[in-house]
Amino acid sequence: RTLTLGLIPADGIGREVIPAAQQVLNALPSSYQLAFQFKHCEAGFEHFQQHGTALPQQTIDVLRQECDGALFGAVSSPSHKVAGYSSPIVALRKHLDLYANVRPVISTTTGAGEAAMGEKAVDMLIIRENTECLYIKKERQFTDSDGQVKAIAERLITQGASERAGRMAFRMALARQAVREKQPVDQRRWTGPPKVTIVHKSNVLSITDGLWRESIRHVYENTPEFRDQIALEEQLVDSMVYRMFREPEVFDVVVAPNLYGDILSDGAAALVGSLGLVPSANVGDNFVMGEPVHGSAPDIAGQHKANPIAAIRSAALLLENIGLSQPASAIYQAVDTTLRKGFRTPDLGGTATTEEVTEAVCKHLQ
Ligand code: NAI
Ligand code: MG
Repeated sequence: RTLTLGLIPADGIGREVIPAAQQVLNALPSSYQLAFQFKHCEAGFEHFQQHGTALPQQTIDVLRQECDGALFGAVSSPSHKVAGYSSPIVALRKHLDLYANVRPVISTTTGAGEAAMGEKAVDMLIIRENTECLYIKKERQFTDSDGQVKAIAERLITQGASERAGRMAFRMALARQAVREKQPVDQRRWTGPPKVTIVHKSNVLSITDGLWRESIRHVYENTPEFRDQIALEEQLVDSMVYRMFREPEVFDVVVAPNLYGDILSDGAAALVGSLGLVPSANVGDNFVMGEPVHGSAPDIAGQHKANPIAAIRSAALLLENIGLSQPASAIYQAVDTTLRKGFRTPDLGGTATTEEVTEAVCKHLQ
């Protein structure tokens, strides 16, 4: 099978870590019978400065019409307002209807006993609804009759978006289970039935979070495949944070509305070490875009210090989400081996360069 993948390195270390991920994909052993065709696409702040647009129409067209999936690097978004600029990653999620942000939070030696680098043993998947909640950005400010300045933000929750996020969580819980079943028992981190945790705060926000919670429960109760195989539980968002830090090992798949998911997933990244390790994927029904969680890291750009692992794992996550879980696991394992053997960039306390880590991952794939 030949996969056509769009590569959008964008800015800063995006231009270093996306080629690294590409190199790893090209190094997959021929036994997986996968070939790749890469389409290089422009986007980002530098592109905006040179050409007046952060996301050329051509990039959207190529991704939509020619690609089976994509990998995005990172953009440098200025902190001050720049006329005419808006973030290309937010726009891409919208154009491609990538309605869930999927973030696996995995400690390095998942399943292989003791956690490396002082981390807790974690293997959870956070699914963040990507299209609504407070992020519809309907904010307004006004001065009340009593002279008080007030600001109000609307929070949108729909049954449809909640159901599709829930459905994705259940499907992914089953897919993870299928992968685990192929692993030796002593390497499985999760031994119970697949589990999905709904995060909400419907004790307070009974209408909006209530709809979120009930929509997902509705999908569960009306889909025998899910109901019979998956354990469903729920957790209020505040105690979710507490439990996630106290006992992260009790979570399998976690599904959260946009804002809670944003906060939880960054918090979860802190459980497993450097930003340079954590991948994500933006997933829709027809398209997947892998994206390392980190930004463009201008402080280290161009110095061969960028950790390529988040981008490499994002490439694996992309494969996993288009149904290619075997080459994806091979990449995850090669990354684990690379870290365990001590190939580490400076963010992990090592001295290896981006290129050395990438080569080591390629070598351990063989
Ligand atoms: P950042 O993630 O770029 O960097 C934070 C710190 O982590 C820096 O010290 C950096 O050197 C380090 N770091 C990040 N990724 C690393 C890697 N792969 N290897 C080694 N060290 C790594 O976040 P920051 O500094 O807040 O933002 C820098 C720029 O990136 C800003 O313009 C921001 O808007 C943008 N950004 C873009 C994101 C995206 O494209 N999705 C996400 C976050 C920030
Ligand atoms: Mg965030």
